[in-house]
Amino acid sequence: MTYSRTDSRDGGLAIQYLALSTMIVLYSLMFIGGYISAAGLGLTCPEWPLCPNGIMPSEEYLIEWVHRLVAATTGVLVLATMVACYMNKNAGARIKVTSSLASAFVVTQITLGALVIDLKLHAVLVAIHLGIGILLFSMVLLTTLFAFRLSKVPVKADA
Ligand code: HEM
Repeated sequence: MTYSRTDSRDGGLAIQYLALSTMIVLYSLMFIGGYISAAGLGLTCPEWPLCPNGIMPSEEYLIEWVHRLVAATTGVLVLATMVACYMNKNAGARIKVTSSLASAFVVTQITLGALVIDLKLHAVLVAIHLGIGILLFSMVLLTTLFAFRLSKVPVKADA
């Protein structure tokens, strides 16, 4: 059996782009998180959701500010991907399950970020933060793979 791309108007292409950009932004977020942890900068900003100077960035809290901004962006992208999957008539159960799990993990992860700060980087919470980050990445990766398959439909070989 051979495959051909469907018309981009069916929304499959939009899901592909959304899922792929989510994965790239999420990967960068995990990279930044790893840097914060390894550099011992986890408590430079002791408050949540905003740092003491408010919404604008400052040199003092820059890396934490970037981590939170990219986390918020990731959250929006993950939720948007899920909504796009539910709105697409060609989307199957698998992509709906992975995008829904990704959404559940991203909300948990952002909430957990607050606890990580409140409980002064308790080792168990930091480990769970990393663990959920990996689960989240796995779901976003699967969603991306399914999205790329979604944009192809089987056609007859001699068509
Ligand atoms: C989608 C959301 C998020 C993801 C995927 C994510 C991912 C990560 C990862 C992978 C690390 C490195 C962990 C390690 O190396 O052990 C990390 C560290 C950290 N994250 Fe997040 N994070 C997210 C949201 C947040 C939020 C909203 C906050 C707080 C407001 C936060 C606070 C922290 C802190 C303080 C650290 C450093 C922990 C330490 O010093 O050991 N994270 N994050």
